[in-house]
Amino acid sequence: MSDFLKAKNVDLQKHKILVLDFGSQYTQLIARKLREIGIYCEIYSHDVTKQEFEVFAPKGVILSGGPDSATAENGLDIPEFLFTSEVPLLGICYGMQAMAKQLGGEVIKSSQKEFGFAEVEIHAESKLLDSILDSDKNERSLEVWMSHGDRVISVPSGFKAIGSSKNSSIAMMANEEKNLFGLQFHPEVHHTKQGKAILERFVKAICACETLWNPTNIVDDLVRSVREQVAGQKVLLGLSGGVDSSVVAALLAKSIGDQLICVFVNNGLLRLDEVEQVRKMVTTGFGSGASFEFRIVDAEKVFLDRLAGVHDPEKKRKLIGNTFIEVFEKEAKGLLGIQFLAQGTIYPDVIESAAGKGGKAHVIKSHHNVGGLPTNMSFKLIEPLRQLFKDEVRELGRQLGLPPTIIDRHPFPGPGLAVRVLGEVKEQFLSVLRKADKIFIDELHNYGLYEKVSQAFVVFLPVKSVGVVGDSRRYDYVVSLRAVETVDFMTATWARLPYEFLDLVSRRILNEIEEVSRVTFDISSKPPSTIEWE
Ligand code: XMP
Repeated sequence: MSDFLKAKNVDLQKHKILVLDFGSQYTQLIARKLREIGIYCEIYSHDVTKQEFEVFAPKGVILSGGPDSATAENGLDIPEFLFTSEVPLLGICYGMQAMAKQLGGEVIKSSQKEFGFAEVEIHAESKLLDSILDSDKNERSLEVWMSHGDRVISVPSGFKAIGSSKNSSIAMMANEEKNLFGLQFHPEVHHTKQGKAILERFVKAICACETLWNPTNIVDDLVRSVREQVAGQKVLLGLSGGVDSSVVAALLAKSIGDQLICVFVNNGLLRLDEVEQVRKMVTTGFGSGASFEFRIVDAEKVFLDRLAGVHDPEKKRKLIGNTFIEVFEKEAKGLLGIQFLAQGTIYPDVIESAAGKGGKAHVIKSHHNVGGLPTNMSFKLIEPLRQLFKDEVRELGRQLGLPPTIIDRHPFPGPGLAVRVLGEVKEQFLSVLRKADKIFIDELHNYGLYEKVSQAFVVFLPVKSVGVVGDSRRYDYVVSLRAVETVDFMTATWARLPYEFLDLVSRRILNEIEEVSRVTFDISSKPPSTIEWE
């Protein structure tokens, strides 16, 4: 646990929910929905220990879905102590099936999968549904989204069946007295019409949580915690200009003003005018008017010299990561007496890097902005966004006065343009790429398309193609436009940008950049392709 977590003010998290992860792809979605409702929650692994549970002290527990079968010998179990903890439980999909099985009900494998939209007929009263169905309209059904094979065919003693769908005779069950509930459908997904209201009912009415988790409270709480933890010491922050590190900078500027030192490494792999943009953002004190030390480390030459002659994408990435650490470490050594190093780690990083309590079931993320700083640096870590989802980080940034140009910026990879110049990185290629990228991004803004796509950029292809300008032959480079739509960047589809728009961008690039003879548009989705080309 980071020092920051230990020092945090607990008031905002007095009323919290524990989400137990049984491996569902929607576990994070459950947590995000609860945060949206205004309730703090954390995701722990399905095999949480009694001690961990007691230390966390939630007011309710939600059991996620998962790929296992409750009918299998080795299916994951709900920890038994939860059933006697007197804390309300809500099992979703696998969570409901495991609950039914462990408490003496019956679950069977179903030959027919139920997937997608379904209607759940409500046959009995349940306090989980109070005020959810419109009694004036005599509403007796829910519009839900299902994704399951197994199904519960008899409920444990003390439970009653509340609703059924075409393929699930028991799509909802409850032991009202003990506050144990099961839903075969997924209330966390957008397609379940009354889903958010059901979750809200569970956490607010049944678990008696107050909605304390909101952006204003979060800013106040974080500012107080940072001040408490840092006291009069100095904090070093590696600022990349991306959303996460900018929000950390704004938060620290507001909390500790001139005790903050921001270091921005110009690795020569940045976009056009990026250094100036970051400088401008910093000089306004990130909207807070606070003054603090800002250092730009000019390391273009070091990076580009080392990249010379290197063609392999993985070698390029490693080399850039290592060089970054070296440059940053050298800079930090010159700044004596600094106690804290701040990082823009956010909650999905914590979950995905298996550092979180729920981490066991997750894949380790291979992308890192600051690629593991050496452990022998004698800093204490401060990670104020460690408990926040990306949308919460953005909201926090807005609260802190950061401009939309920063908040709504598309992600930019740690290795920068080096993964967008295929093969060997050369200054000439970078320069062409910067110009083409600026045209594409500017036009996306002009046409109101920038916010509609999740990420967009240009890729430089070091191959030459023949063209014709006036009466002369042209033999120059090729660039590709890339734009994707995605929610989590794990999967993505190529964005269907209008032909007229693509035509305009292509003409501008071909007319304005003489080293380019051909513009292509990447129509590959992820998987099987990746978003970046290298
Ligand atoms: P891929 O290419 O793997 O990219 O589909 C998924 C998302 O991650 C970004 N990306 C990185 N971000 N360091 C980062 O901070 C990296 O090394 C890195 N590589 C890819 C990519 O831009 C996309 O948003």
